[in-house]
Amino acid sequence: MGIPVSINVNGRAVDADVDPRTLLVDFIRTHCRLTGTHVGCDTAQCGACTVHVDGRAVKSCNLLAAQANGATVLTIEGLAAANGDMHPMQAAFKECHGLQCGFCTPGMVMSACELSGKLTNPTDEQIRDALDGNICRCTGYHNIVKAVKSGLSNMQK
Ligand code: FES
Ligand code: FES
Repeated sequence: MGIPVSINVNGRAVDADVDPRTLLVDFIRTHCRLTGTHVGCDTAQCGACTVHVDGRAVKSCNLLAAQANGATVLTIEGLAAANGDMHPMQAAFKECHGLQCGFCTPGMVMSACELSGKLTNPTDEQIRDALDGNICRCTGYHNIVKAVKSGLSNMQK
C-alpha cells in the first residue's frame, strides 16, 4: 500500500503515493523523470546521487522518499537559471574540464555548491577533504578541484 508524499522538487510541488520502501533517488528518477541524478552504488558510497534537501547536500540513495515528505529538493536539473544560463559551478566544471564521462558530475556539482558559504578561499586539500564522499572513476580529481575552486570563487563574487 502506498503512502502519500508531497515534495517540492526544483520549485514544483510533486504529490504522489509511494511504496514506503521507495528511495528518494528512485522517486526523483522514476516518478519525477529527472535522470540527471545518478545511481552509482546504491549504498551511500559514491555520491553520484547527491541532491540538496532543504539546502543540504544529501545522498538520495540513503534517504526514503517518505523521509523527504514536506521537504524542498534541488536536483542538478534545477540548478541553472530560468533563462538556461549555467550555474557558476556548472560553468566552472565546463571551463576547467572537471569531467570526463560525466557520470559523477551531477553529484560532484551538487556537493560542491553546498561548500559555498562554508569554505572561503579553500586550499586544494580542503576541497579534496570536503568532496571525499564523491567518487570519480575517470579524472584523477585534479581538474575537479580546480573547477570547484573556480566555481566557489565565482559564487562568492
Ligand atoms: S548511488 Fe548514492 S552514494 Fe552511490
Ligand atoms: S567523470 Fe567519469 S566518473 Fe567522474
